[in-house]
Formats: sequence, structure tokens, C-alpha cells
Amino acid sequence: MKTYLVTGAAGFIGANYIKYLLRIHEHIRVVILDALTYAGNLGTIAGDIDNERCIFVRGDICDRALVDDLFARYKFDYVVNFAAESHVDRSIENPQLFLLTNILGTQNLLDAARRAWVMGRDETGYPTWRAGVRYHQVSTDEVYGSLGDEGYFTEQTPLCPHSPYSASKTSADLFVMAYRDTYHMPVSITRCSNNYGPYHFPEKLIPLIIKNILEGKHLPVYGNGSNVRDWLYVEDHCKAIDLVVREGKPGEVYNVGGHNEKTNLEIVKLTIATIHRLMESHPEYRQVLKKKEIGPDGEIDISWINDDLITFVKDRLGHDQRYAIDPTKIREELGWYPETTFEVGIVRTIEWYLNHQDWVEEVTSGDYQKYYERMYKDR
Ligand code: NAD
Ligand code: DAU
Repeated sequence: MKTYLVTGAAGFIGANYIKYLLRIHEHIRVVILDALTYAGNLGTIAGDIDNERCIFVRGDICDRALVDDLFARYKFDYVVNFAAESHVDRSIENPQLFLLTNILGTQNLLDAARRAWVMGRDETGYPTWRAGVRYHQVSTDEVYGSLGDEGYFTEQTPLCPHSPYSASKTSADLFVMAYRDTYHMPVSITRCSNNYGPYHFPEKLIPLIIKNILEGKHLPVYGNGSNVRDWLYVEDHCKAIDLVVREGKPGEVYNVGGHNEKTNLEIVKLTIATIHRLMESHPEYRQVLKKKEIGPDGEIDISWINDDLITFVKDRLGHDQRYAIDPTKIREELGWYPETTFEVGIVRTIEWYLNHQDWVEEVTSGDYQKYYERMYKDR
């Protein structure tokens, strides 16, 4: 039986990952370490925690004593590090927090793994490692910087981050590679493009747009909306990480992406059109709308769900123009490919939000309103 330490699993991708792991692998044990910041929500994973196959520990990945204690107690085979401050806009507001969690937290996990997993030394002086262990870092395509109209990020693309968030993720990747080169630590890194799907916190583009439409609010598009992101359904990302942790070559980086490039404006318009279509075919979904005016047909009016909701607002500072992943390596070595088309994934995602308004209320009940006002008032 393999035991995983999964950090940050009360957040968006980590939660989807542990649900996926527990569903497809029978003989595993998962220990979750999460500080439950504004982005973490225990309710998201409450149904998965049974204190046998899935154990939850609230704590900070920077806490050396706690992390050492967990390694001693559970004898982890794998560490999968999702825990991070993940929002670019927040990193522009408060860069230092990103250094603490994303860099120092990663280094603390690497060191704890080294203390727990090193067995001795070989004749050249390098540490020898417990068989079968792996430290996996969940990284991002943002470490490569920004593309022009053409080309893709490959694993050989030079690292060139621009935002405080991506600079911190890049530094973390460099530490992971430093532990590989200096101590021969068995590590791997996945660098993924923009995810979307269930449990995505509504500070990020797609869930924020869905939330605002349902509340009849304007839809803030930064700049002229021409920036391109390469969208991947979250479960496809989870499958990629699972493959890399179990079958990927130690010491390697794998890019994970969907070949699904869209401008932000396309994403917003598609989201508007999809919500409108779903409400037309399933009038019961209209009950979710905050704005409930009765139209001439006697049903709740949805004629206002159209592109007029879009507002172009002040651009993000240092806004990367285009991200696009070349996933050739993971496809050829591990047979991974993005299984969920955007057309299917976006409908699945929107329906999930329509059916889980209680979750949205729960995660936005704290400081979200203050954050929204602060972040968007001067735009
Ligand atoms: P998220 O913000 O939704 O979740 C982050 C989780 O980490 C939360 O549960 C939070 O409570 C926890 N956390 C934060 N600081 C912590 C600390 N110091 N100690 C312990 N836990 C802490 O993030 P996400 O979107 O799920 O991203 C997960 C990882 O994937 C991040 O490392 C991010 O850089 C990376 N990534 C995200 C995307 C994306 O599109 N969202 C794409 C590529 C890579
Ligand atoms: O590429 C992977 C990265 O994707 C991850 O590493 C990050 O953790 C994740 O947050 C995401 O970063 P982005 O900055 O690309 O995602 P976000 O959803 O914040 O923004 C997507 C695009 O939409 C970006 O070009 C900015 C724009 N945007 C965003 C918001 C929140 C808007 O136009 N309006 C908005 O209100």
C-alpha cells in the first residue's frame, strides 16, 4: 500500500486530485496537509475524509516540526505538493506571502522528505534513497513567461516568469531541481496550463464569470480581452499527475496542456452563451438567478444574459499575453492526452456550479466581498 502526503488538497486542483486518487486506486492512504487559507475549504473534501484511507491535518507546509512529525508517523511513499498561493492578482497586491508559501514551503517539504527518505551514501558521496519514493511538485506553465502569436512551451523553453506568483513558482521549481542535482533526490515536476472545473474558487476567470452572470453583475474583462490561455479540464490534469507520480521518470519535467487556446473574450462569450442555452433548455435552472424578473412568456426572464454584460476594465500589470503548452513528451512517454473537450468540459462545469450554489455561498461567505470590492473598484 502506498501512502501519499498531498498538500493543498482543500483547494481546487488538490481536492479534485484526491477524489480521483481515492476513486481509482483501492490500496492507498492519503494524508492531506492544508492550512485552510481563504482558498481552502474543508467542506469540499469532508465527504472523502474517513481517517483510514483519507486523513486530514490542518497545518502550514512551512511548519518544520509538523511536517517532520507527519513523515515519522505515516512513512510517506509519495509527496504531491499542490499547496500554494495561486492567484496572480493577489501576488501583485502582496508578493511576500507568495515567497513564504511557494518557495520556503516547498523547500521545507523537500528537506523533510530528505531527512525521512535518505538511507545512506553511495561510494561517490551521494545520498541513497528509500526505494520507490517520489517528491512531486505541481507547477505551472507561467514559469515559461509569455508567448507571441506562434509557438508552444516545451520542457526546454527557458524559464522567464513575470508576475510575483510565477517568479515564486519558478524559484520552487529551481529548488526541486537543485535537490535532484545535489542530492539525487527522486523528484518530478508537472507544468500545467489553466485548469477549469468543479470547486474552482470564484476569484479566477471562469468561476468568477459564472458567479457574476448568475448575480446579474458586469463581467470584468482585463484590457481588450485578447490574452490567450490554454484551458484544461481539471480531471485531465489529475490523471496526468497520477501518471507522472507513478510512472514518470524520476528527475523529469512534464508539460501538461490541453491544445485548447482561447482568448479571454472568447471564454467569457462562450460562458454567457452556454448559461443562456442551459437556462433555455432547463427553465428550472433559472431559479438560481439572483435577478428574477418575469418575462412575457411567464418564465423568469433571461434575455439580459447576453454580451452586454461584458465590461472592459483596466489591464492586469505585467499581463502575460499568451500561454500554450506542447504536451508531446507526456503523450509519447506516458500515453496521456486531454480526454475532455472544452465543449463538454464547460457545460459540465457550468452545470456543476448551477447545482452547487451552496458551495459557492460557503466559499465566498468570508472576505470574498471585500476582496472583490478592493480588486475591482479602481478598474
Ligand atoms: P488553490 O488556491 O485553489 O488552492 C491552494 C490550496 O493550498 C488551498 O487549499 C490552501 O488552503 C492551501 N495552502 C495555501 N497556503 C498553504 C500553506 N502555507 N500550507 C498549507 N496549505 C496551504 O490552488 P489551485 O488552483 O488548486 O492550484 C494548486 C496548485 O496547482 C498550485 O501549486 C498552483 O500553482 C498549481 N497550478 C494551478 C493551475 C490552475 O489553473 N489553477 C494551473 C497550473 C498549476
Ligand atoms: O496558467 C496556469 C495558471 O493559471 C496557474 O498557475 C494559476 O495558479 C491560475 O490562477 C491561472 O492563472 P491566470 O492568471 O491565467 O488565471 P486567471 O483565472 O486569474 O485569469 C485568466 C485570464 O483572465 C488572465 O488573462 C486574466 C483574465 N481575467 C481574470 C480575471 C480574474 C480577466 O480578464 N478578468 C478577471 O476578472
